[in-house]
Amino acid sequence: MKQFLDINWTYKVNDTHIYWSKETNGGGTQYIQAYFDYFKKYHPNKTFNHALDWCSGVGFLGLGMLACDVCNHITLLEKFEPACDLMHKTIKDNNIDNATAVHNDNVAILKDNYDLIIGNPPQFRQYHYLPTGDVQFNSKEDWIRLAIDKNWNAHREFFTNIKNKMAPDCVILLTENSASINSISQVAQECGFAVKNKHFAMSGPDHYARDRKGAAMKDWGEILFVEFVLGTP
Ligand SMILES: C[S@@+](CC[C@H](N)C(=O)[O-])C[C@H]1O[C@@H](n2cnc3c(N)ncnc32)[C@H](O)[C@@H]1O
Repeated sequence: MKQFLDINWTYKVNDTHIYWSKETNGGGTQYIQAYFDYFKKYHPNKTFNHALDWCSGVGFLGLGMLACDVCNHITLLEKFEPACDLMHKTIKDNNIDNATAVHNDNVAILKDNYDLIIGNPPQFRQYHYLPTGDVQFNSKEDWIRLAIDKNWNAHREFFTNIKNKMAPDCVILLTENSASINSISQVAQECGFAVKNKHFAMSGPDHYARDRKGAAMKDWGEILFVEFVLGTP
């Protein structure tokens, strides 16, 4: 464990204050409302039992959904240690007893079964230029860690190893980029999964990611919610 945490801010969802820093911000705050709306629309009155936030960063999405009672328990999986340190601090300081932070490279280590899997994984398979403008990312190094999944290796490993951790009727809902969706679908298919449903994560015509000044990053691609199922849709 590090001696010093570089905490820049907290982000509040209902009563939960989520610690984050510039180097750990993967942009999940943009999608919390959209995830919440999705569950309200497609799974009304349902509380999932045990959810997994894959590639959780500091846990914006997973802890956000927990704070909205979308699930009874959340496991947050992240490979970048500073993000995990912040998650542990968030869990401790908010007295959350139904969240587990796991520091690991991908899902093979997980032992539980999940009836919901959400995630905002890296969205490009090779180096993709940093969006222009006054963006949130500290450095090229941070951008690569947050945004690039080389040759879809992490996605492939996820789809390969998650199968035996899925409860019956498990819902898998990932945030992906429209520029990448065809090749991700192919990887999913090679691993036995199919795309059941995809639509814009943001409501209305406003479905682009935004830079820090709020400008739409139209040259970056559109953000999609993609629901995957094992087998055929
Ligand atoms: C786009 S960021 C999203 C972070 C956070 N979910 C959010 O929405 O702000 C992607 C995250 O995935 C993590 N990551 C990448 N590959 C991973 C792997 N194989 N296992 C676990 N985490 C991974 C990165 O460290 C990064 O924090």
